Amino acid sequence: MAGFTAKLPSYKSLKGISERMLAEHLKLYNGYVNKSNEIADKLASGTVDLSKSAATYSEFRALKLEQTFNGNGMYLHQYYFENLTDSQPEVPKEVKEEIEKSFGTFEKWKDEFVATGMAGRGWAVLGLNLEDGKLYNLLYDAHNIGGLVTLVPLLVLDVFEHAYFIDYGTNRKDYINAYLNLIDWKVVAKRLEKAKKMHKVWTE
Ligand SMILES: [Fe+2]
Repeated sequence: MAGFTAKLPSYKSLKGISERMLAEHLKLYNGYVNKSNEIADKLASGTVDLSKSAATYSEFRALKLEQTFNGNGMYLHQYYFENLTDSQPEVPKEVKEEIEKSFGTFEKWKDEFVATGMAGRGWAVLGLNLEDGKLYNLLYDAHNIGGLVTLVPLLVLDVFEHAYFIDYGTNRKDYINAYLNLIDWKVVAKRLEKAKKMHKVWTE
């Protein structure tokens, strides 16, 4: 068995995210972890015929596609659950300054982040681009469709219907507004500190 293990959140619910909705969400997350292990095992097994690899259809193509679908499904959920809390920490100065450098003002960033969440079919991600060191709000229409390969995720918002439908119906905007009050800015600050170091090393 390959070595991916589920990293479950410490909370069972949050203000605006019910226990039932989170439990259903975690079932999906566990599925991505299990499938990531299954795919890694299959690729390592030596039973897949690489000589039949083709872009029309092949077992190898299916495995490679689902490797990124389930892999990103796993990691994006981990980052999403990890960057939520009920404790409502203030936005740390270093995060605010970095956001202002890339977006002008914190409000402008927030408006674009919310709009990205409304425009995407899967995820909105605030991240640091390893190439230019700037922050971007990027959209993913599926776990493996969207984003930049050089983006280090700092703040992840799940906008798949399973992330809000049980509590909010079709009212995605209300879910995103509730989410904004649940952001764990301390986690974002830690990720930003690491990403800035990574950018430095990447562009050496
Ligand atoms: Fe999700």
